[in-house]
Amino acid sequence: MRVAGMAAAVIIGMSASVSRAAEASPAAKPPMGWNSWNHFAAKIDDATVRAQADAMASNGMRDAGYRYINIDDTWEGERDARGVIHPNARFPDMKALADYVHSRGLKLGIYSSPGPKTCAGYAGSQGHEVEDAQTYAAWGIDYLKYDLCSLGDAMRAVGSMEKAQDIELAAYERMHAALQATGRPIVYSLCQYGFSQVWRWGGSVGGNLWRTTGDIEDKFPRMVQIGFGQAGLSKYAKPGQWNDPDMLEVGNGGMTPTEYRTHMSLWALLAAPLLAGNDLSAMSPDTLAILTNRDVIAIDQDPAGHQGDRVKAEGPLETWARPLSGGGVAVGLFNLSDLPAYLDVNFADLGIAGAAEARDVWAAKDLGPLIRYRTLVPAHGVSLLRLTAAGR
Ligand code: GLA
Repeated sequence: MRVAGMAAAVIIGMSASVSRAAEASPAAKPPMGWNSWNHFAAKIDDATVRAQADAMASNGMRDAGYRYINIDDTWEGERDARGVIHPNARFPDMKALADYVHSRGLKLGIYSSPGPKTCAGYAGSQGHEVEDAQTYAAWGIDYLKYDLCSLGDAMRAVGSMEKAQDIELAAYERMHAALQATGRPIVYSLCQYGFSQVWRWGGSVGGNLWRTTGDIEDKFPRMVQIGFGQAGLSKYAKPGQWNDPDMLEVGNGGMTPTEYRTHMSLWALLAAPLLAGNDLSAMSPDTLAILTNRDVIAIDQDPAGHQGDRVKAEGPLETWARPLSGGGVAVGLFNLSDLPAYLDVNFADLGIAGAAEARDVWAAKDLGPLIRYRTLVPAHGVSLLRLTAAGR
């Protein structure tokens, strides 16, 4: 009995410290914000970043939970004789920019590479990890996306998977240690396109999130390929450590509102980071409504932090479900075909005993207590439900 009691105490102690660690993490929930790359790519500057912060702070996004304003590649300038990196002329004063973003109740993110060059050919952090982390902290940076890019050349040159992996892990760990040493909480976002099952080791090098795929594009087939390709990864996500199927394309113009709702619904079921990738200073009410739907965001940010997964696929008709805190379940009935189609789901197949209160999230409509549901889903569309066991 004493031994069992002690073991229980140790286990309780361990789980308490695990949840304390997750709470202390700057990414206890999937990060929400904006990133410059998908819309602006290399055409990003100080004024544009300020305009995004102004928009997020005033259009309802900040109130809905969006926080990070992330500058992607092409901000970098030259290193000085002491090895300190400076921004290029498009970012005259990074500290002043961070102060501005912070004054709007938001946080600022930045981008670099563990290789000598970033993907766009700018200066990377190789050999300067400590200086760069110190510089970011001095500017007031809150988030770093660390993109493999040219380190891949060094990895390919060693001629063995094992040695390449050693180089990669050491490089990611080096920046992690440098960030830790600053004492500033900085979300650490790994970007190496999902090679070598990063979901198995991303957390061990300090990653709060890791890209699981190549780059998204603002096209339905590419979004589908990336998003629905996440099947099987749910067990690798938890509070503080998330799978990242890349940033959102909602509002960039290459998909219909129906397709963007499919994109947003799937990302919420996947507990994915919600990093808007459009121009926040010039978006339609439709786009804003998709990005700020409170029920969808509540699914993405569910405090239990369980990622959803595929339950069933029947040709282009897919059912995905995500367990929620309090015994609820979020369900997506996806129709990836080019014609409308009926989809149905028995709630018992999702582990729900008896009836559940069902809410159609995009229709903002309570459907009442049900044990199953059947509905016509438009081509490329989704029916997203939130189920709560009846009587709770
Ligand atoms: C890679 C990343 C993108 C973006 C670009 C910037 O392609 O995967 O998300 O950061 O580099 O050069």
